[in-house]
Amino acid sequence: MTFYTPIPDELKEYIDKWKLKKGSLIMILRSVQDYYGYVPKKICFSLAKELKAPLARIYEVLTFYNYFKTESPGKYKIAVCMGTACYLKGAAAIIKAIEDKLDIKESQATKDGLFSLENVRCIGCCGIAPNMRINEKIYGKLNKERVSEILDEYINLNAGVSSSQEPPIL
Ligand code: FES
Repeated sequence: MTFYTPIPDELKEYIDKWKLKKGSLIMILRSVQDYYGYVPKKICFSLAKELKAPLARIYEVLTFYNYFKTESPGKYKIAVCMGTACYLKGAAAIIKAIEDKLDIKESQATKDGLFSLENVRCIGCCGIAPNMRINEKIYGKLNKERVSEILDEYINLNAGVSSSQEPPIL
């Protein structure tokens, strides 16, 4: 059985340009993540072959830097700010509320692929802490109830229940 998956031409060009340069693995993995939105397992096998590097070395880098994602992100990428201001205003409880509501943990996506959850550092809106971002939209002054309402808006929107195009930004 072979695990080789063809690397898209655009990526292959970049990899060919950098693969012989020392210390280029992180840059190459970044380019893979930029291309797919995460680093798919199937590409790791191909990458190991292409770079003549042990697969374990690739996973060592992927798991060391939490910048890298090995799971496909959800349609709605939830990023809860865990910067100091948000942390002090209860960001951990916001994460817990999302985990409970969506039945996922940080760095996971829901089974239907609708949501994924991660924590990030300051997103520049400390005055309305605690905050989260869903794709490009910022939601501030959150509490457990508000989080639940916001997520319901997205769930309903996706089910075609809501009449609005996008949930409102607060
Ligand atoms: S610490 Fe959360 S926005 Fe700044």
